[in-house]
Parts: sequence; C-alpha cells; structure tokens
Amino acid sequence: MTQQPAISLQEAIEQRRAARSFRPDPIPQDTLTEILRLGVRSPSGFNLQPWRFVLVREPQNKEKLRACAFNQPQVTEAPVVLICCGDRRVNSSEYIEETIALGKETGAVNDKYAEFMRGSIPQLFENHPCFESIEAWTNRHTMLAVAHIMIVAKSFGVDSCPMEGFVAAQVKEAFNIPAEVDVCCLLPLGYAKEPFKLYGGRFGLDKVCYGESFGAAFKL
Ligand SMILES: Cc1cc2nc3c(=O)[nH]c(=O)nc-3n(C[C@H](O)[C@H](O)[C@H](O)COP(=O)(O)O)c2cc1C
Repeated sequence: MTQQPAISLQEAIEQRRAARSFRPDPIPQDTLTEILRLGVRSPSGFNLQPWRFVLVREPQNKEKLRACAFNQPQVTEAPVVLICCGDRRVNSSEYIEETIALGKETGAVNDKYAEFMRGSIPQLFENHPCFESIEAWTNRHTMLAVAHIMIVAKSFGVDSCPMEGFVAAQVKEAFNIPAEVDVCCLLPLGYAKEPFKLYGGRFGLDKVCYGESFGAAFKL
C-alpha cells in the first residue's frame, strides 16, 4: 500500500524543525523511498533535475561524514544522511538528450520543444543571465528538492536537519564526488529526540515582502 502522510501539508510545514538530535530508530524502507520519490518531483529549469543524493547509512561512513561536518552529532545519530549535491554537467548534449527522451516518454516534450531545448539550454549556460555561476544554478535547484524532501519527510513523521556546517572539499574526497559536482548541504533524516528544538520564529510578512518594488510597503 502506498504511504500516506500522517499529517496535513500545513501541519508538516508548521511542525518541521531542524532536528539537532535523533533517536536510533530506522526509517522504514518504503517510507524512505516515498520521501525520495516525492522529493524529486521538485521543479527545475528545463526539467534538468541537477540534484544528486548520496545516501549514507553505514555507521563507519556516518563517522567519516561527521568528521567532515565539524563533528556535529546529528550526522552519526540519524539513521540516514543525504549528501545533497548539484551536478554541473547537466548542460552536456548527452544529458540534454536524456532529458528530452524523458519528456517524450511522458508526452510532455514534442519535436518542436525538443529543438527549443537543444538550442536554449546551451545558451542559458553560456550567457547565464539569471545566475552568476553554474554552481549557483545547481544549488538553486538542489535546495528546492531538499525543501520538498524535508516537508514530505515531516508529513510521514520523519524529521530532518539541513546542514551547511561541513567542509565541502573533505566531503567530496571522502565520498568520491566528482569535481563537477557540488555539495549543497547535508540532510540527516530520522526521528528527533525530545525535547524538540523550539521554533525560532519568522519575520513578519511586512518585513520580507514588498509591494511592486523592492523596499515598498506590502499591503494585502
Ligand atoms: C542551508 C541551511 C544550513 C543549515 N546548517 C545547519 C548546520 O550546519 N547545523 C545545524 O544544526 N543546523 C543548520 N541549519 C538549521 C537552521 O539553524 C534552522 O533551520 C534555523 O535555525 C530555523 O529553525 P527551524 O528549521 O527549526 O525552523 C541549517 C539550515 C539551512 C536552511
């Protein structure tokens, strides 16, 4: 039977906390699979899906990862840690063809759109008018997928902790991550130990949203 969320989307978003400590209980295989399956339903430019995830579950590998992550205990406590990566090689012609083939299989891409992709994707990466570096582009997409994963996980009762406290060069070397692939974050997944980390609050919409022009007051 397919996994069903235990709580609503609204509750999942409101109850998610960055868990600092985990119980050792494993995540059932089906639940983990469903979290990843729904997580990668995340959107991406031209559907290029540059995210890549290394699942770290073996205790000795989690120790190795913790050593690259300023010794943060959640890395070894959580039953699963994702090394969330962005692959800069998705603008290769072979990969563009794979993406086109995928879209053709579902019927989302026709010959005309395939030609558009063949022309536009290389141009996007050459001119990059909306990003400074390819790493910024891959990071943008990977973190969207990470957000999906965290919310889906919470809806199944699974906690997470997005982490930027790591040394990327060390993680890459220890886990055979190619030079063209960037480590965007680590994501321990599991069941948080109580007491849960308290809600740190969020700025009001009046501080973070503007109306029509940056800095202009936002009114509903
Ligand atoms: C990109 C990113 C990196 C983070 N890095 C770490 C980290 O290395 N270690 C940690 O304990 N928490 C880390 N956090 C968690 C934040 O401290 C936490 O999300 C923030 O305080 C808000 O709390 P909440 O997520 O529980 O609402 C990170 C969060 C994000 C989004």
